[in-house]
Amino acid sequence: MDTPPSPLQQPAMAPAVLADGAQLVLRVMPLPADVNANGDIFGGWIMAQVDLAGAVLPSRLARGRIATVAVKEFVFKQPVSLGDLLSFYARITRIGRTSISVRVEVYAERNPAQLQVVKVTEADLTYVAIDDQGQPRPVPSA
Ligand SMILES: CC(C)(COP(=O)(O)OP(=O)(O)OC[C@H]1O[C@@H](n2cnc3c(N)ncnc32)[C@H](O)[C@@H]1OP(=O)(O)O)[C@@H](O)C(=O)NCCC(=O)NCCS
Repeated sequence: MDTPPSPLQQPAMAPAVLADGAQLVLRVMPLPADVNANGDIFGGWIMAQVDLAGAVLPSRLARGRIATVAVKEFVFKQPVSLGDLLSFYARITRIGRTSISVRVEVYAERNPAQLQVVKVTEADLTYVAIDDQGQPRPVPSA
């Protein structure tokens, strides 16, 4: 099992930035409506949250509309359970002419009585800055 060297292990509160510069962009706890037939959290729900979390930094950089153009990799390392508090960390991996790629890592805090933090998901996504007609536009220079 792939257990990360968890930067979240000590305090229950998630740090705003990880050692690699990834930023905390979203924290959310799934609801009973998000479970699958096994009683775990539905993968599609997690994917939607990752897409939302991944869009935060590209939206800022693009200073306007963006669209998800590709998800290169999606790994579900461990199941997510009801009661888990999920923290989504994002780090820009590439800025192209019109596109911005991001790596998203998701950690679950569970069992508050004896806190455990595990990486549950990671994914690489690419967003494109788009204009009012939905066509690619250049990412503004800093
Ligand atoms: C996003 C969209 C506007 C891009 O239009 P396009 O004509 O395909 O654009 P281009 O081929 O010029 O590519 C634009 C950028 O995306 C990148 N890109 C395109 N396909 C890609 C892929 N599969 N993986 C990674 N990057 C990709 C290109 O490399 C380019 O980046 P760059 O300018 O930084 O080099 C268009 O594909 C679209 O509207 N897609 C639907 C988006 C959407 O609805 N997403 C929500 C999911 S339902």
